[in-house]
Amino acid sequence: MSWPEPAHGVIRRLCLELPGGSLDATGARLFYTDGDVYQFGVARGWSLGILARLFKETTWGFDTFTGMPSETPGEPTIAVWSEGHFSPGGPAANASLARSIGGSVRWVIGDYDTTLTSTLAVERGMRRARYVDVDCDLYRSAHLAVDWMFASGLIGIGTVIGYDDLWDLPCSTRGVLNTSTHHPLRMGEGKAHAEVTLRYGVRFRCICGPCKPLEPGALRLPESWRSYFVVERLGSSTPSSGFAMADSEVVAFLEKNARCRENRKRWKAFPAYPHTRG
Ligand SMILES: C[S@@+](CC[C@H](N)C(=O)[O-])C[C@H]1O[C@@H](n2cnc3c(N)ncnc32)[C@H](O)[C@@H]1O
Repeated sequence: MSWPEPAHGVIRRLCLELPGGSLDATGARLFYTDGDVYQFGVARGWSLGILARLFKETTWGFDTFTGMPSETPGEPTIAVWSEGHFSPGGPAANASLARSIGGSVRWVIGDYDTTLTSTLAVERGMRRARYVDVDCDLYRSAHLAVDWMFASGLIGIGTVIGYDDLWDLPCSTRGVLNTSTHHPLRMGEGKAHAEVTLRYGVRFRCICGPCKPLEPGALRLPESWRSYFVVERLGSSTPSSGFAMADSEVVAFLEKNARCRENRKRWKAFPAYPHTRG
C-alpha cells in the first residue's frame, strides 16, 4: 500500500510510538496534506515541540498556562489532574515556550469555557485542521475543545484527532467503578469523543493505537496509548466513533495491558474521585 508524501511520513511518525499500533492504510490515505495543527493541553510544551517539528503548518496551542481547571462535578477524574497541576508558571511561560519550540506556534490563553468563542476561528485566521491533539485530560475540557472545533467548521474529511488519555480513567479507576462503566468511551476524553460523534453525525475511523481491534502487541504496550481517528464523513445518519474494539477486547486490555496494570498500581496513591458507582 502506498499513499502520497508527506501524509504518509507524518501519519506514520505520529503512530510510531505505538508498539503494535500498525497503521490503517485506508484511513491514512484520507489524511489531509494541508491545514493547521491544534493542541488542547500544552503545559510545558513537551509534545507541542514534537508536533511543531513534525508538521510544518501553523500550530495553535490552547491552555490556561496556570494548570488544570476543575472537572464537571460528578465526572470521574484522578488526583494528578486536580486543579493547578501541570502549571508551567502562568501565561508568561508562553514567551520562553515559544522561544524553545520555535516555528509558527500561536497561543490561545485561558480556560476553554471562555476562550473558545464562536468568532475566535475567524478573528484569528485559523484554517481547517490537519491534526487536532487532545491532551487536556478532563471530560469537560475535551468536550469543549472538540465540540468547538466542529462547531467552528475547522474539521473536515481527512482531519485526524489524537487523544492521549482514552485509557487513563478506565485503567486507573478499574476496581473502583463497576466494570460495565469502564469503557473508554464512557469517561474522560473518550466520552467527549463519543458525544461529539453523535452531535455532528461523524464517521470516524481508528487509524492507529488501541482503538482498533485488539492486536497482541497492544497488550504489551508499556509507553503510550495515544489513539488516532480520522474523519471519514460528516453529517452522517449512521455516525460512528471509530472505536473498533469489541467489549471482550476492552476487558482484555483493561486486565492485561502492561501500562493499564501499572497505572492501576501507581495511581492508587491518587484515587479516583468522585466514586461514581455504575
Ligand atoms: C497533561 S497536561 C498537557 C501535557 C502536554 N501536552 C505535554 O506534552 O507536556 C494538560 C493541560 O491541559 C490544560 N487544560 C485542561 N483543561 C483545560 C481547559 N478547560 N482550558 C484550558 N486548558 C486546559 C491544563 O492547563 C494542562 O496544562
